[in-house]
Amino acid sequence: MKIDIITVVPGLLDSPFNHSILKRAREKGLLEVNCINLRDYAINKQGQVDDYPFGGGAGMVLMAEPLVNAIEDLQQHTSYNEVIYFTPDGPAFNQKTANRLSLHQNLLLICGHYKGIDQRIRDHFITMELSIGDYVLSGGELAAAVVVDALGRLLPGVLSDETSALFDSFQDNLLAPPVYSRPEVFRGWAVPEVLLSGNHKRIEEWRQEQSVQRTKERRPDLLEGE
Ligand code: ADE
Repeated sequence: MKIDIITVVPGLLDSPFNHSILKRAREKGLLEVNCINLRDYAINKQGQVDDYPFGGGAGMVLMAEPLVNAIEDLQQHTSYNEVIYFTPDGPAFNQKTANRLSLHQNLLLICGHYKGIDQRIRDHFITMELSIGDYVLSGGELAAAVVVDALGRLLPGVLSDETSALFDSFQDNLLAPPVYSRPEVFRGWAVPEVLLSGNHKRIEEWRQEQSVQRTKERRPDLLEGE
């Protein structure tokens, strides 16, 4: 999968793709991530990419022209399955969307900054909008990092145990069960006996029960979902 990201602050994305699972995914050639600096498409030598909003009001707006120039330049080389804009007024990103997006070949992500991007870009170039939660970030970069992380770990071959993403929280509208590691007793707190039993059927049943119980307690809304 190839993910191109247009941003005015590429430095914000230096770290997230260079560690741990995403780093390995890139090294294995399973995931390619490219950050494109919107300032390379600035409208003048001063590097201008934003301007005041018509009608007044606080904050700056990313202008249509540099964005279109960047998008159309990238589209010359790549046919994108989706052109995604991150915005708090978009539909909420969730595991179902992550699963669906992880099947695509090429994605273009657009990060807003300041007050957002010119609405005409949203109307004519963006094919999908996403919010990562009901709070306002200073830009879409951290949202892009969240989405790339969620997608990257779903790509076949990325996780060492290929099935492990299948048991993540949310994959079947259930939260994941508790996990324990050594020692068997820590400060007097013992690991549930069933996990030490070696009985795989009982362990599976216990995990399923724990998942359902956790979901009922913490996220009953998930059980009402589709
Ligand atoms: N940009 C600013 N806030 C955001 C959010 N909550 N989700 C996605 N993009 C954003």
